[in-house]
Amino acid sequence: MSEQREQWGSRWGFVLAAAGSAIGLGNIWRFPWLVGQYGGAAFVMVYLAIVALIGLPVMMCELSVGRASQRAPFKAFSSVGGNPLWNVIGWMAIITGGFLVLSYYNVVGGWTIKYMIESLTGLMDVAAAGESGSFFGGFLGKNHEVVAYQVIFMGLVMLFVAGGIGGGIERTCKIMMPALFGILIILIVRSLSLPGAEAGIEFYLRPDFSKLTGEGILAALGQAFFSLSLGLGAMLTYGSYLKKEEHLPSAAAWACGLDTLIALMAGFAIFPAVFAMGFEPGAGVGLTFITLPGVFAKMPAGMFFSFLFFLLLFFAAVTSAMSLLEAAVTFAIEKFNLKRTDAVLVMGVIIILLGGYSAISLSDKNVFEGAVEKVAFEEGDRLVIAEDAEKIVVEQVERIAVRSFNHPTILGKDFFSAVDDFCNNWLLPLGSLLLCLFVGWFWCEPASKEVTGDGKHSFSWLGMWIFCVRFIAPVGIIVIFLNALGLI
Ligand code: PHE
Repeated sequence: MSEQREQWGSRWGFVLAAAGSAIGLGNIWRFPWLVGQYGGAAFVMVYLAIVALIGLPVMMCELSVGRASQRAPFKAFSSVGGNPLWNVIGWMAIITGGFLVLSYYNVVGGWTIKYMIESLTGLMDVAAAGESGSFFGGFLGKNHEVVAYQVIFMGLVMLFVAGGIGGGIERTCKIMMPALFGILIILIVRSLSLPGAEAGIEFYLRPDFSKLTGEGILAALGQAFFSLSLGLGAMLTYGSYLKKEEHLPSAAAWACGLDTLIALMAGFAIFPAVFAMGFEPGAGVGLTFITLPGVFAKMPAGMFFSFLFFLLLFFAAVTSAMSLLEAAVTFAIEKFNLKRTDAVLVMGVIIILLGGYSAISLSDKNVFEGAVEKVAFEEGDRLVIAEDAEKIVVEQVERIAVRSFNHPTILGKDFFSAVDDFCNNWLLPLGSLLLCLFVGWFWCEPASKEVTGDGKHSFSWLGMWIFCVRFIAPVGIIVIFLNALGLI
């Protein structure tokens, strides 16, 4: 079986593909939004510590189980000699990553296409008039449009993944990743050269630990796993295509390092500009889609920079989505013996359907918020109640009643936000916790052999790595969980 398995064409092919998986919406959309929301530099420091002490060791675990087993995650653990019960980690990974995360990921991927096109058409005028918030809300309210963009995005990803490992995934990443880097540099130079950029740099680099909360630390943990593509079987799957001769720790270090570098760079592209243009950094999910167009609209040649930015986001999203789909496709190929193209088709369609649900759940919320604005609005400093307020309220109550029957919310959150929060903050760390327990306590000898290529590659941090996998990572994850639950 292992002879027929595809492999990465070169070390760089792997590093770029792994970095392509890791570098994504997580770095450019989610990281800056969390930094803005959870207090700036202090969050960044916690994040960096988590990447070094938990993220990198876990990434090496995933790659080594993947390479040793040469299997998809759902049978990797038993095939390297573990009790088949450990395969539950792989099953969890496939369900979480291939289906849940990708289904919401491609919704945001679709937004990037919409915003790329809009940048060149009307977005700058809308944003200059201070309307980028209602523009975003209005877009999310149009189900057919959001779903159409999501299908276009996913269709492209399916095409690339159908091309296979070396031909499709590796080739796409080799073009898109360097382009992404170049665009980011242009944006940073632009952002830092704006008058007033210093306030943004200060927010981003000078820590104020009093702003740090348990929720913020949990978010940093979730973000580290999400950003490094861990806990979802994506790196495990990519590791299974890694050649035995490759130096595994340095491949992992490269992927982690590049991912972190790009996240930090995204902050430098965004915060100085946000502050220089007088915006607030804590806009949450909307930071990139609402605040940034406003920032671009105020800059000379804003249209051009806006287009470049959303192109960057699009590239980042495509290469990550490919790795998520690849994990689901490898599963379908190995479990049901499907041809690659058939597997891509079947998995892609299932994910598109789930994603549609995510997209619509968000739009519902926006339709509702739009309606609330119509009931009461400000005129000068007076609050005016609309004449047909009663009718609007009755309509909305009826709609919500029908909706909550058809689309139940989860713990008060719409499906989209619930998936984001539950997967990133809980499922990914949980999967990684189990992985560390397996590798650290039940598979340590073989793991050390795999990591050092049977002793052929020198790796002077081996002891430190084992210590992180056995103690630091599991204890760290458990403590952060308990803290977020309010138990400690
Ligand atoms: N790491 C990707 C990002 O930062 C998301 C991702 C998670 C991709 C898990 C694959 C697996 O956007």
